[in-house]
Amino acid sequence: MLKGRSVLLVIGGGIAAYKSAELIRLIRKAGGGVRVILTKAGSEFVTPLTIASLSGEKVYDDIFSLTDETEMGHIELSRSADLVVVAPATADLMAKAANGLANDLASTALLATDKPVLMAPAMNVRMWNHAATQRNLATLQRDGIVFVGPDDGEMACGEYGPGRMAEPAAILAAIEAHFARNSGLRPLAGKHVLITAGPTHEPIDPVRYIANRSSGKQGYALAEAAHQAGARVTLVSGPVTLPAPTGVTLIRVETAEEMNEAVEKALPADLAIFAAAVADWRVKNAASEKIKKQGHAIAPIELAENPDILARVSRHTDLRPRLVVGFAAETENVIVHATAKLARKGCDLIVANDVSPQSGVMGGERNQVHILSASGIESLPEMDKAAVAEVLIARFARLLTQAQT
Ligand code: C5P
Repeated sequence: MLKGRSVLLVIGGGIAAYKSAELIRLIRKAGGGVRVILTKAGSEFVTPLTIASLSGEKVYDDIFSLTDETEMGHIELSRSADLVVVAPATADLMAKAANGLANDLASTALLATDKPVLMAPAMNVRMWNHAATQRNLATLQRDGIVFVGPDDGEMACGEYGPGRMAEPAAILAAIEAHFARNSGLRPLAGKHVLITAGPTHEPIDPVRYIANRSSGKQGYALAEAAHQAGARVTLVSGPVTLPAPTGVTLIRVETAEEMNEAVEKALPADLAIFAAAVADWRVKNAASEKIKKQGHAIAPIELAENPDILARVSRHTDLRPRLVVGFAAETENVIVHATAKLARKGCDLIVANDVSPQSGVMGGERNQVHILSASGIESLPEMDKAAVAEVLIARFARLLTQAQT
């Protein structure tokens, strides 16, 4: 996935530096090359020898080394890679980069580079939350630097909160997503991708309804990612408060039956992704006027089962998309339930995630998913929903190409 790509990795001084050793291994395993700048503080946590052995390259750690300057000047070094990754990005490195300081090799390279920069911050929670760091973060983001993490969790210093460096697998996914976004490759060019998203609302009367909890964020992020990958995208969305993604045909619906109809109309498609949280039942005896609270016995609500859109499309004989993907939002035994769903629905893949209240996935910005297929399970690291979407779309595009050949 990173074949022919090279990364300049800046390792700052933090306990998370040991994770960067793993990151080097992962980048190389994915086919990429890594050159490393190790700050002085970074070398207190990992040794140049470890880094050199893992990267298979000389480690750069001193701006004033004359040998380095004759072999490769610091300006050239800063531009030698396709992407600069700073992991761990300490508060100090962020502050230097935000203010354009250049008093060691790492900060000089960050100032001299003309390549995109990705930072994976790691620091104590109070340092992260400090107004100065947050100011620097905003400046760096304005400068176009992309961030992955930090994650919430227990820190080496015993405190709890945001500040833990993103896991190496999540940083690798962010690197892959960066290259997928900027490769100019449009793996879904010429393909029609159909996506359902959001909840459905099943009216009880004109003002009340039955619904599932769903913000639609993951489905909308998938639509954006598919569009970025060059696809023609039809997004059939239940009621959500999200803005319409650009470049995507958005069809707004209320109920499961309307969603089903819109999906049928949008076929044929090459890839169909059913990310909507469709209500399983609709109200058979929905009232045409608002049901009054007083003076009437409450009429029982009669339910009828909604069409299972995913199962129907999976079983289409003529218009079945080449790749059909379902979602499984579970609150327990995620893999067991998702495996059963894969068979029951007849789709090619199930993307499963834990939506128990403690996971914070519902309505949140982050997600951690498992991709289940007949050939096994791939678990992605926890990432923001846009990154999850980019990785998923890249996987689906690859499967579509394989199915074609
Ligand atoms: O059966 P369950 O609702 O858990 O299945 C989830 C998957 O099935 C999701 O991909 C969802 O979009 C899809 N689904 C559907 N139509 C339904 C119910 C679920 O397309 N009526």
